[in-house]
Amino acid sequence: MKLLTTTSLVLSFTFLLLLSTSHAHNITTILAKHPEFSTFNHYLSATHLANDINRRQTITVLAIDNAAMSSLLDKHLSLPTLKNVLSLHVLVDYFGSKKLHQITNGTTVASSMFQATGAAAGTSGYVNITNLKGGKVGFGADVTDGSPLHSFYVKSVDELPYNISVLQISQGLTSADAEAPTAAPSQVNLTSIMAKQGCKAFADLLKASKALSTFEENIDGGLTVFCPTDNVVKGFLPKYKNLTDADKVALLSYHGIPVYESLQMLKSNNGVVNTLATGGASKYDFTVQNDGEIVRLETKVVTATIVGTLIDQDPLVVYKINKVLLPIELFKPSLAPAESPKPSKKTKKGAASPEADGPAGDVESATADHTNGASELCGSVKFFMVLLSLPMGFLAL
Ligand SMILES: *[C@@H]1O[C@H](CO)[C@@H](O)[C@H](O)[C@H]1NC(C)=O
Ligand SMILES: *[C@@H]1O[C@H](CO)[C@@H](O)[C@H](O)[C@H]1NC(C)=O
Ligand SMILES: *[C@@H]1O[C@H](CO)[C@@H](O)[C@H](O)[C@H]1NC(C)=O
Ligand SMILES: *[C@@H]1O[C@H](CO)[C@@H](O)[C@H](O)[C@H]1NC(C)=O
Ligand SMILES: *[C@@H]1O[C@H](CO)[C@@H](O)[C@H](O)[C@H]1NC(C)=O
Ligand SMILES: *[C@@H]1O[C@H](CO)[C@@H](O)[C@H](O)[C@H]1NC(C)=O
Repeated sequence: MKLLTTTSLVLSFTFLLLLSTSHAHNITTILAKHPEFSTFNHYLSATHLANDINRRQTITVLAIDNAAMSSLLDKHLSLPTLKNVLSLHVLVDYFGSKKLHQITNGTTVASSMFQATGAAAGTSGYVNITNLKGGKVGFGADVTDGSPLHSFYVKSVDELPYNISVLQISQGLTSADAEAPTAAPSQVNLTSIMAKQGCKAFADLLKASKALSTFEENIDGGLTVFCPTDNVVKGFLPKYKNLTDADKVALLSYHGIPVYESLQMLKSNNGVVNTLATGGASKYDFTVQNDGEIVRLETKVVTATIVGTLIDQDPLVVYKINKVLLPIELFKPSLAPAESPKPSKKTKKGAASPEADGPAGDVESATADHTNGASELCGSVKFFMVLLSLPMGFLAL
């Protein structure tokens, strides 16, 4: 397993290089021109938030000066906790000073990077921005109605529309949730994050499998996980139970790639990715294909779409997807690739033969298991896909 992981790491490193794009902005450089934000700047780097900020294309940083930062530091928060608090100061939308004063109806809530950490419960990752009397703009990290706004807009520090806006606010934003003790990335409980946010069925399969340790071992070095939602995993269970133990591990491992891929990176690059199941003669890869804001994951059997983010905390990111990723190594395609958007008639036979090119042990046995009922399998995969299209309709809403 270690060897497999190493191989896939090496292979996906090539992919990582392909994905690395030049950065349009550098928050460290921007703030370095303003010594009054040196402490804030230092901690953006120390918590690696600076990397996250530089990776995003549309972002607002609510900077606080050294005095405000020092009252935040008086709380003696651990670095991971401080990261949560500081991530409340990074809004994943563009607010220039002009937009700030022209908010529709005078008040709004903006999603912060804390919302994407998975540590934020309910609305605690949102920031309330409200236009007050006399041109004042107030900010608050507690968005329950009627909560006082403790921090106020001071000035615009730097604006590169619509990539990054840096605004100074008077006080640090914080909340009980953000200050709750936080574990380091490697201590993150992957399965409980999944279970809490609509991927409990997949988390349960992982917990019962050796595959979980492969996922956990990869977190520190970079890990992207695609977890199918509960509805689709439940529909898939009968097929899952039919897999051999080794194939179960391969199927689950197929849902992780051993590099960190932010949504922005996935949206701006297409290509084949190796997975945690990749190794030796077993390809177990799939293609990332983006279409505007939509990111599709195409195996040769199914195409899944990213429908949400459970946690995005470099080096770990977990996305929710609307289908179980079925590798060609274990499943046969049931339909010819759709050339036209028309739904294929059932007279159309699933023609494509599986390109099982490597006689790797577990793949071989899986193929043998399925050979007898090949057409039967095609039929049930078709049925499975019909099943899948039902919950998809809901997710699309
Ligand atoms: C941003 O700038 C800092 C120093 O100015 C540098 O150390 C860092 O590597 C830069 N980051 C990126 C992503 O270019
Ligand atoms: C602004 O207020 C109007 C009337 O109360 C409401 O219909 C509208 O949805 C609000 N717009 C936003 C963006 O909240
Ligand atoms: C923001 O907070 C203010 C003050 O508590 C409140 O009046 C307003 O409704 C809040 N705005 C939103 C969009 O929740
Ligand atoms: C915003 O970023 C893009 C590249 O992503 C760059 O071409 C553009 O010049 C940037 N805009 C500003 C104002 O820096
Ligand atoms: C993660 O949490 C679950 C319960 O939600 C627990 O059973 C499991 O042992 C935890 N795993 C780790 C590594 O702490
Ligand atoms: C599981 O395997 C059995 C025996 O090979 C077969 O009868 C059954 O249809 C399979 N179930 C699914 C859901 O593929």
